[in-house]
Amino acid sequence: MQQKWQQVDEYLKRHLLNEDPNLAQTLLANAAQGLPPHDVSPLQGQFLLLMVQISAAQRVLEIGTLGGFSTQLMAQALPPDGCLISLEKEERNAAVARENIARAGLSGKVTIKVGEAAELLPELQEQAPFDLVFIDADKQNALLYLQWSISLGRTGSVIIMDNVIRGGAIIDTERDVHADGICQTLEAVKQFPELTATALQTVGEKGWDGFALLRVDKSSPKKQNSMDLP
Ligand code: DHB
Ligand code: MG
Repeated sequence: MQQKWQQVDEYLKRHLLNEDPNLAQTLLANAAQGLPPHDVSPLQGQFLLLMVQISAAQRVLEIGTLGGFSTQLMAQALPPDGCLISLEKEERNAAVARENIARAGLSGKVTIKVGEAAELLPELQEQAPFDLVFIDADKQNALLYLQWSISLGRTGSVIIMDNVIRGGAIIDTERDVHADGICQTLEAVKQFPELTATALQTVGEKGWDGFALLRVDKSSPKKQNSMDLP
């Protein structure tokens, strides 16, 4: 089916997306620099752009920049005084992303911070609350990133997590560490009374995967078994 998923994505892109030379250039640059092909697809990126617009987000946090493709789309959706902070572990990736963001004229809205997200997240209290968080970094620490997203959010904040289906691997008995990290996160969701959650499976040029979509409500009374940050 992969071939048909791809063809349907081509059809949808042709009819729904406008040509954006800067976005095309970003994908080319990321591939040319040897970054892993883990950018969201253009249609998925447009979904993120729409989520930023629909939620009227002014402050966006991204955990996992890679080459900045999703960063660029979300930043495009921000109002003139909006800002996006994106966390990236690899200096090499961040350098590619900064160049892509600069080419698209978005440097004024985007700050890329380099380091372990687990160390950078506690330093973001001053920039909080974030209206929307996109989690797309290493999957082993996904639960920690979810906890920080809640902590740095407010009632009404939107959290989107990438790659929560992994070709169905999340229900396999033999799972790799990435699928394990996602399962640990999905299986913890009900322990957070602050969250209303769903996940949507997607198919397309990126294969079979999906997004989790969560909303924060800080007015929910804490349950006794609710999870706190370590
Ligand atoms: C992987 C990570 C991603 O963020 C993605 O979009 C696809 C795959 C991975 O680590 O396998
Ligand atoms: Mg991803």
